[in-house]
Amino acid sequence: MSKTFDVIVIGGGPGGYIAAIRAAQLGFNTACIDEWKNSKGGPAPGGTCTNVGCIPSKALLQSSEHFEHAGHAFADHGIGLKDLSIDVPKMLARKDTVVKQNNDGILYLFKKNKVSFFHGRGSFVKAVDGGYEVQVAGATAETLVAKQVIVATGSNARALPGTPFDEENILSNDGALRVGAVPKKLGLIGSGVIGLEMGSVWRRLGAEVTILEGLPTFLGAVDEQIAKEAHKAFTKQGLKIELGVKVGEIKVGKKGVSVAFTNAKGDAQTLDVDKLIVSIGRVPNTVGLNAEAVGLALDERGAIVVDAECRTNLPGVWAVGDVVRGPMLAHKAEEEGVAVAERIAGQHGHVNFNTIPWVIYTSPEIAWVGETEQQLKARGAAYKSGSFPFMANGRARALGDTTGMVKMLADAKTDEILGVHIVGPMASELIAEAVVAMEFKASSEDIARICHAHPSLSESTKEAALAVDKRTLNF
Ligand code: FAD
Ligand code: NAI
Repeated sequence: MSKTFDVIVIGGGPGGYIAAIRAAQLGFNTACIDEWKNSKGGPAPGGTCTNVGCIPSKALLQSSEHFEHAGHAFADHGIGLKDLSIDVPKMLARKDTVVKQNNDGILYLFKKNKVSFFHGRGSFVKAVDGGYEVQVAGATAETLVAKQVIVATGSNARALPGTPFDEENILSNDGALRVGAVPKKLGLIGSGVIGLEMGSVWRRLGAEVTILEGLPTFLGAVDEQIAKEAHKAFTKQGLKIELGVKVGEIKVGKKGVSVAFTNAKGDAQTLDVDKLIVSIGRVPNTVGLNAEAVGLALDERGAIVVDAECRTNLPGVWAVGDVVRGPMLAHKAEEEGVAVAERIAGQHGHVNFNTIPWVIYTSPEIAWVGETEQQLKARGAAYKSGSFPFMANGRARALGDTTGMVKMLADAKTDEILGVHIVGPMASELIAEAVVAMEFKASSEDIARICHAHPSLSESTKEAALAVDKRTLNF
């Protein structure tokens, strides 16, 4: 006997579980299918983000930052510590507890919103009169039918050709979050977001970290001035970042991993490490979805083809999050999930791709929204720029963290804010003001005229806005 729903969501990551909740709020009888298992084989909704992504990485970034502060910054505050040590298994157990709190929170939200949750793999069976039949293969087998299906099956780590992840020596993000002891030497391939965040975790805990990056520029998508400042800070901390390398053969031996590579000058080199994290991007995941059964179109990268409103080639089938085009970010997946549920309800769901913030949770943090200076130059835009260093901010001095700046870019004629770029303390929180400003099409003068609390890091955003008009007050 099949069970009939209005909406079936396949995948319970940030795209899927949020879509399911919004659909249920809008009055639809909604099912969400997710196959992620916890260590006991039970359900662990939340996807990559909750289980092996955003949440556990931030837990480890916090633990390792505490350790680094205790070892290096506390002394400046007159706080003495003897015999500082790190208990890695305990740190990992805390991270696992944080993950479980989030898994349980999502199960609670499903109950609260009356979303029917199915633990297992969801796959298309066939199109049926007025909808689609979807099979769930889990502890029990179920057949579900609905007129509307939202696919949110996420992404997986990309492996280097010929070097599969064994999660022992060659680690994806999954293994990188489970290393049981601080490696003496850690290598990473790819100095993107994961490379920098995970490299920072293990460097802070005492590993000698080397990152090999294929491109000749560091963080090419980030505003150049901000990327330069961040590179300086990371190098000073001891992260070794080799740009413009070509990775060759990778051998796993008894003593660890040996990576042959050619450096930017063309010299043949070898990097010997205890563990190697490969963080070279992610690939959309449609494994097990049986997309062929219903003729769901995929592009050459394996992503589900969607239009600007997340409609696939099939009527009533939508796709959101990492499995479709666009940035692979949890908040982008969530926004798409909400918008699709609202479109199914006949409302005008909307995602503004121009105001999706990016954050890299290193220290200093890097956060931005809107266009970079190099993008503005490339499109020949007339713009004004203002920046303010945290060195001149009272709160940053009191915190003891004065690295970096806030930089604001505004249209030369209209003064509309076109981009805000931050490297420094709490950039992840500061960027929210810039996102709001850009959503409301604020000018730099608007921000400059708003009263900001003193002393706060946010005063740097106001000062950067004043700097656009060359009238900073504190620099
Ligand atoms: P996912 O979170 O991947 O969820 C997909 C779910 O679908 C999974 O649970 C999967 O098991 C399930 N599934 C797949 N196929 C089926 C099927 N056939 N049947 C049933 N279930 C299925 N983004 C941020 O915005 N901020 C961050 O700080 C951040 N940190 C990250 C750190 C790391 C280490 C990584 C790897 C990623 C990070 N991301 C971050 C990216 C973020 O995790 C993803 O963008 C986000 O999880 C995408 O959400 P999603 O719902 O599209 O897919
Ligand atoms: P990424 O795309 O951020 O970085 C990959 C890096 O690897 C790039 O710099 C690329 O040039 C390099 N690279 C690719 N192939 C290479 C090769 N063969 N040799 C050497 N270098 C190579 O991807 P990453 O770090 O794997 O993260 C995946 C995605 O997960 C991110 O793009 C982001 O969408 C998401 N994420 C978001 C986070 C956040 O929002 N804070 C944190 C972590 C991940």
